[in-house]
Amino acid sequence: MNIQTLYSTSAPLHTPLAKHSDITWRMHATQDVKYNVSIVNGLLNPENSSLANACGKYNNNNDKTKRLVVIDSMVFDLYGDKLKIYFGSWNFDISWKILSGDEINKNMESAIEVTKSMADAGLLRRGEVVVGIGGGVLLDVVGFASSLYRRGVPYIRIPTTLMGQIDAGIGIKTGVNHGDHKNRLGSYFAPSSALIDTSFLGSLNQRHISNGVAEIIKMALIKDRALFELLDSISSHLTPGAFASDDLTIREIMSRAIAGMLAELEPNLWEAELARCVDYGHTFSPSLELLATPTLLHGEAVAVDMALCVALAKGRALLTDEEADRAIALIGKSGLPITHPIFEQDLLEKALADTVKHRDGLQRIPLTNGIGAATFVNDLTSGELTKALDFIAERQHLREQATVL
Ligand SMILES: NC(=O)c1ccc[n+]([C@@H]2O[C@H](COP(=O)([O-])OP(=O)(O)OC[C@H]3O[C@@H](n4cnc5c(N)ncnc54)[C@H](O)[C@@H]3O)[C@@H](O)[C@H]2O)c1
Ligand SMILES: [Zn+2]
Repeated sequence: MNIQTLYSTSAPLHTPLAKHSDITWRMHATQDVKYNVSIVNGLLNPENSSLANACGKYNNNNDKTKRLVVIDSMVFDLYGDKLKIYFGSWNFDISWKILSGDEINKNMESAIEVTKSMADAGLLRRGEVVVGIGGGVLLDVVGFASSLYRRGVPYIRIPTTLMGQIDAGIGIKTGVNHGDHKNRLGSYFAPSSALIDTSFLGSLNQRHISNGVAEIIKMALIKDRALFELLDSISSHLTPGAFASDDLTIREIMSRAIAGMLAELEPNLWEAELARCVDYGHTFSPSLELLATPTLLHGEAVAVDMALCVALAKGRALLTDEEADRAIALIGKSGLPITHPIFEQDLLEKALADTVKHRDGLQRIPLTNGIGAATFVNDLTSGELTKALDFIAERQHLREQATVL
């Protein structure tokens, strides 16, 4: 029996519902998720309507339109004036909530603070979209707060870091760190839209550009050989200025990275399938990211993990020697590390055990199967890890010698 039959109007009124035997109603509903991810040039130009439209305003008539903007403090310092001019010219009445970015602020307290601003702003439940502007940290916090407040209010994402524009700001995962674990509290909560303007990237420092490049290299290695070749062709020019420019190669790199990520996410938005090739470089790195001092950025930890996975793939003849060398060289040329002093056998084995729990009992390790394709491995051994570590240590040694010379 299903709910429809149970409450069918054609059922005689006197039909008894309660039976002496057990009774089960099976609920079955699906959620339809639709949102646009758009690259918009000149997002903050008052003549560009994209942002106003995403906020639900289609003309700049005199009606003041209330919106809550939650923004990274650094982004507010750099772009606050432009944003005020933009919102002013479209006649918005903005409540600003300024939050510090950076991993240390990605916690429940920040999410609760955002929900307080939602209450203070007197948000309507459906009609007044919240605007999140900042890096992956800010967007994860705003997304999480939006999913909690009244069990879900609409929000839009405006990522301002490279990591945000090609990864953190375009999917549906939200969350905060909790109890020594990254993203331990979180939700899947789709934005109404995500708007990407690469000109924000011009004010990032080089380290945060390389941090995002790590995730682009990931997409290239497991999914897109052409992307790998493009990155390799300009590996010494992956700078903030280049990413903010309208250089065609960079544009192609951004589009391919975003398209590749969305293509991977769309059929598996809620991660029903735990063998995900976008988890490449994310098998051992969570433990490294947690334990490294001085702190590593997410992409840096991912880079160290990717280098190891390149060596593992080479050990299984899934990459040729030449492909492995090219992959490791690209990671290095992009300003990313390939080793770390604490990235040793012991840590790797513990990290893998932790990841196996996260992947529900199986290793499901994505490895490259040639550059630009992936396969999954469930039988990785300690011996393979030892050999891979040796290979990477040798490559690191060669790198250091080359720098000295
Ligand atoms: N939800 C997801 O699917 C997903 C995916 C990948 C990463 N993440 C999360 O994203 C976070 C990392 O994001 P991130 O690398 O963007 O870090 P971040 O948000 O900490 O930003 C990095 C720094 O750049 C500053 N900043 C932001 N935009 C700037 C700009 N345009 N110019 C100058 N400075 C600017 C910030 O204030 C911060 O100091 C991690 O917490 C990670 O877990 C989430
Ligand atoms: Zn990542």
